[in-house]
Amino acid sequence: MASPTAPGHSGLDASVIARANHVWLTGLRDQPDRAVEFADNVALVAPHIPHLIRRQRDMLGRMVRYLVGQGIHQYLDLGSGLPTGGHVHEVAQGARTACRVVYVDNEPGLAKDGQAIVADNARACFLSLDIRQVDDVLNAPETAQLIDFDQPVAVLLIETLLHIRDEDNPDQLVSAYVDAVPSGSYLGISHFDDSPAIQAGYEMFEQMHLGDRPRPNLRGPDRQKSFFTGLDLVEPGIVPLPLWRPDPGEVGDRNPDRVHVYAGLGRKR
Ligand SMILES: C[S@@+](CC[C@H](N)C(=O)[O-])C[C@H]1O[C@@H](n2cnc3c(N)ncnc32)[C@H](O)[C@@H]1O
Repeated sequence: MASPTAPGHSGLDASVIARANHVWLTGLRDQPDRAVEFADNVALVAPHIPHLIRRQRDMLGRMVRYLVGQGIHQYLDLGSGLPTGGHVHEVAQGARTACRVVYVDNEPGLAKDGQAIVADNARACFLSLDIRQVDDVLNAPETAQLIDFDQPVAVLLIETLLHIRDEDNPDQLVSAYVDAVPSGSYLGISHFDDSPAIQAGYEMFEQMHLGDRPRPNLRGPDRQKSFFTGLDLVEPGIVPLPLWRPDPGEVGDRNPDRVHVYAGLGRKR
């Protein structure tokens, strides 16, 4: 049986979803017809999905700005999707030009565009690698060029762990990256919870005749907490996305506590 992380595991490959994210986040329609059509269909029948994607990117922006404020200038973004639409390098380098970012994603359909987007950016790169091959990621020449492992690093897994099955030991995977970075580094995670609402959302893929629905590995906030074992959780802990350090005066969701996607940030002592 194919691994859930293997590209093309459903009728809908991860590149179509990543490209739809780009359409929702940027408003641009400069993607293949299939991805634009998918983005439009989902926006029509399930507008909460593009809404969630935007809220998640807003949260990532707040997290990166917080990290830059803590003096973090190096970012390892694991399972990045396309680096567009207010992604890590845009926010971090917007706040401090010297910030360096390594994006990693194993979806082959994203490799060319991902690399092209940061091709002119000397402080960012896009690696087409499987994050489960930790040594390949950490020892890649591009990583060595951009990341100084003697200085604190932010390791980000934004909606990536749902692609990692429990059989593939996501806790061990997270620890391997945390072990590779020095004291004062951070781990940022966002993750869908395991509520019936999220399960029903995924069933929508079948109802829309988009092929087999993706088989995500959904985990509730208590389970997510184990990924931060040994780290100091930054306030307010692991909370629904809109409640993670909202900017003053930010227009919130009507029921932020009912958003079934959680975010947390931990600091290595
Ligand atoms: C839900 S998307 C999230 C993208 C991005 N982090 C964001 O916030 O928009 C998950 C991404 O993880 C990637 N991914 C899944 N398993 C992976 C693996 N084993 N190695 C590298 N990337 C992976 C997928 O290709 C996909 O682009």
